[in-house]
Amino acid sequence: MERDDKKFSGGRKYRNDEITVYWKPSSCVHASYCYRELVEVFDPGRRPWIDMTGSTTDNIIDIVNLCPTDALSWKWNNDEKNAEISEDQLNHVKFRRPELMDTNEAAPQETPVSVKIMVDGPIVIKGNLTLSNNGTLKEVQESIISICRCGASDHQPHCDGQHRKIGFIG
Ligand code: SF4
Ligand code: FES
Repeated sequence: MERDDKKFSGGRKYRNDEITVYWKPSSCVHASYCYRELVEVFDPGRRPWIDMTGSTTDNIIDIVNLCPTDALSWKWNNDEKNAEISEDQLNHVKFRRPELMDTNEAAPQETPVSVKIMVDGPIVIKGNLTLSNNGTLKEVQESIISICRCGASDHQPHCDGQHRKIGFIG
């Protein structure tokens, strides 16, 4: 299998014969689903940290679909298959990062707001909403934001992964 960790705007990409996995570090909230479930592929202690030879394509897709933000997303290398993708493939780029699709069908879908409290981590909010912070209002459109619960983030009100360094439990 081919490994490709060349940089592209907005992150890195990794390929095998069938799919490409996209990694956007700025969106990672260190919820750790990826490396807890499939360390053979997602190993933060290794460089490059994603090894597409570590498991089957089906396993990799299943784990990428668990990522609560758009830090990890994926698409088929065959564009015809991307056009037929179903909505249960949550982290397909069509739904998470439409700018990475080559076709014009990439318009983001209208989704209800969802709020998820991550164990020992941030609150992850998805959808269309207005974020009010100290009197400042910010429109969030079809996007994913993570709000700090531990109080240690240097980028309040957003999570920047500090909860892991301080061992936040909550
Ligand atoms: S946010 Fe996604 S990429 Fe980051 S650790 Fe969690 S599952 Fe992995
Ligand atoms: S919850 Fe992630 S930095 Fe506070």
